[in-house]
Amino acid sequence: MGKMVTEHALTRFDASNFGGVTPEMKRAFDSDGVLVLEGLVAGSTCSSLMQRMGGILDEFDPGEHSTIFSTLNNAQGQEDYFLESGREIRFFFEKEAHGEGGALKADFRVSLNKVGHAMHDLDPEFCAFSRQPAFREIAAGLGIAVPLLLQSMYIFKPPQIGGEVTCHQDSSYLWTEPQSCIGLWLALEDATIENGCLWGLPGMHREAAPRSRYLRTEGESGAENITLDERPWPLGDCVPIEAARGTLVVLHGQFPHRSGANRSDKSREAFALHLIDGGADYPAENWLRWDKENSISGFDGPIS
Ligand code: FE2
Repeated sequence: MGKMVTEHALTRFDASNFGGVTPEMKRAFDSDGVLVLEGLVAGSTCSSLMQRMGGILDEFDPGEHSTIFSTLNNAQGQEDYFLESGREIRFFFEKEAHGEGGALKADFRVSLNKVGHAMHDLDPEFCAFSRQPAFREIAAGLGIAVPLLLQSMYIFKPPQIGGEVTCHQDSSYLWTEPQSCIGLWLALEDATIENGCLWGLPGMHREAAPRSRYLRTEGESGAENITLDERPWPLGDCVPIEAARGTLVVLHGQFPHRSGANRSDKSREAFALHLIDGGADYPAENWLRWDKENSISGFDGPIS
């Protein structure tokens, strides 16, 4: 553990024997806004999470819902199915999944964009995985005093149609005052440039505030993205964050990141878990409704 290999601008750590956040890891996270922990999760654990998702999909009726998730437009912001998914397990399709007649072009298992956003509370296997000691240590090591598990996503990035995710900061979506969000992004399969790995802008998380905010509109019938800083992201400076299966990429909430479309024949499945600090204020205008008093979800388990 602790061996460092510098590739592109990012420091990578061998975390196959992870024993907590080292000072080197903390320095890398503070400096880059992202921490790459290779081998943190065993390949067999990745397989069993993928298998469990297969079981969840067996229970899903693709005829029942056809909500599309795309960061290229805001259609999902108008759909209750999305807006009320914070405490549910719900299914979102790729933008290119349906043909002109509205029917799926391929099996629904290779047509989904993601499943979200409460597997960590509602599914026993994802619940146990999300509450593993290593994640607790990461939260503590990065300064989250009262870690709360707010949101989980299973991301498919399927072959051929896996959509691009435009450059964003997670804090825009999981706003707290002060900002406290961190993302734990696990590569369940090898993520490469070809199949749509993450890209990011090291160091830019140190700006004073997020550049946009996604929040419920007045009357709460929808949600919208409010631009707080008009400057475009310097996308040409993005560095790829390729990640072998089992690599955990820890994202500072203000780390700008994106991912490319997947036009390859390989899927790029990932699991993402977002934490916030319970000591921070959680505004009611956030798209994901969450009630501090009634649905606290910490490392000691969900309270329903
Ligand atoms: Fe993100």
